[in-house]
Amino acid sequence: MHIWQVGCQMNAADADSLAERCAEIGMRPGAELPDADLAILVTCAIRQHAEDKAASKLGELAKWKEQRPGRAIALTGCMAGEHGAGLLHRFRYLDYVFDMRDTDGFFARLQDTFQGSLEGPVPLPASDRLCAYLPVILGCNEMCTYCIVPFVRGRESSRPSSEVVAEAGRVVEGGVREITLLGQNVNSYLDPETGEGLAGLLARVDSVPGLERLRFLTSHPRNASEELLQAIADLPRLCENLYLPVQSGDDQCLRRMKRDYRAGDYLRILERARALVPGIGLSTDIIVGFCGETEEEFLSTYRMLEEVEFDTVHVQAYSPRPGTAAYRRADDVPLPEKQERLQRVLALQREISARRNRALVGQRVEVLVEGVGERCRPYGRTRQNRLAWLEPGPKVGDLLSAEVVRATAWQLQCA
Ligand code: SAH
Ligand code: SF4
Ligand code: F3S
Repeated sequence: MHIWQVGCQMNAADADSLAERCAEIGMRPGAELPDADLAILVTCAIRQHAEDKAASKLGELAKWKEQRPGRAIALTGCMAGEHGAGLLHRFRYLDYVFDMRDTDGFFARLQDTFQGSLEGPVPLPASDRLCAYLPVILGCNEMCTYCIVPFVRGRESSRPSSEVVAEAGRVVEGGVREITLLGQNVNSYLDPETGEGLAGLLARVDSVPGLERLRFLTSHPRNASEELLQAIADLPRLCENLYLPVQSGDDQCLRRMKRDYRAGDYLRILERARALVPGIGLSTDIIVGFCGETEEEFLSTYRMLEEVEFDTVHVQAYSPRPGTAAYRRADDVPLPEKQERLQRVLALQREISARRNRALVGQRVEVLVEGVGERCRPYGRTRQNRLAWLEPGPKVGDLLSAEVVRATAWQLQCA
């Protein structure tokens, strides 16, 4: 079987868990399309563009399906949450639509279909699984007016920390060296058994023997507590990195987005983070061209980016999503204007990232080797999540310290 995936890390985690379930029933999850009989699409609904990608993939798969009898196509992820079985009418080559929150029915059918023709379970190779994503809180209770996530992922529900810690232990035993705890709003995590928050959970996972690195994403500014920042400062494996989407640097725009904080509140959190954790890596998300965004409002965002100097900025043009509160408002920033604002943010950030990375030349960074690329050059990431290339030698899974000798906006070259 073949898994195709788009969207956020929640989907990456879902794709991994699908691969594991498939392996349990004797299928080979890593197969390339020409060798596969089943294709599973893990879809995203965050923007129309994401849905269009799935639609065009389905078009491609229609031909693939016709080439050999017995082939099937399944779809899950956020488009399944949004449209449900209606997709079976829209895409006639589609065979299954299932919800990631309830996969048992789907797997029972798969087992019937495929088990007879395969020779027992094929375990996933542990060595490929160096970095694992563990969802710790599902859903989202915020109602940002532009966002479809609460509609497709439901209300927040946290997993007991005992369960998360046990799973962390299992994956580390299987070879994982880096764990990222996931949630749409990971910092509203609340242990249903003990009432403990994310900082408590991080402390428990941080002490899992054999783990080298711990990360978490994405955080909502509302719950970026002092306790959480302190955990980043104190816990030895927890990486010095904070992914805190701001969306806009303008108070009026933030209010229309229903983000429930002001630009000033946000800046104070970052100031505190930098004071407690020197050298912390900071990442954010920005939406440009939201309903009613004036040039003045956009400039507030632009100036915030100049002032903060983030390490990474993910910027998107606003895309209206049916069912959301903002969908009822006019999508009144013309597309060329959205694109222009997006390009201005990208150009600014390219400059800032290059400057910040070049400042690291001559310093030593810690790199976890994740793969080996062209000309046998190993690559990995620093604790602040920067991509770093190394001289040939180190193997996947090695954790080492190296000196930065060159830097661009997107990567470091180490000696
Ligand atoms: N829970 C996270 C992010 C979830 S969605 C948070 O609260 O920040 C990931 C990113 O997609 C968002 O940060 C936002 O920048 C972008 N996004 C969400 N809805 C969008 C929309 N309708 N149009 C454009 N970008 C959107
Ligand atoms: Fe969407 Fe807002 Fe929830 Fe993030 S916090 S997932 S942007 S509704
Ligand atoms: Fe997309 Fe769903 Fe993630 S809409 S961004 S895959 S939560």
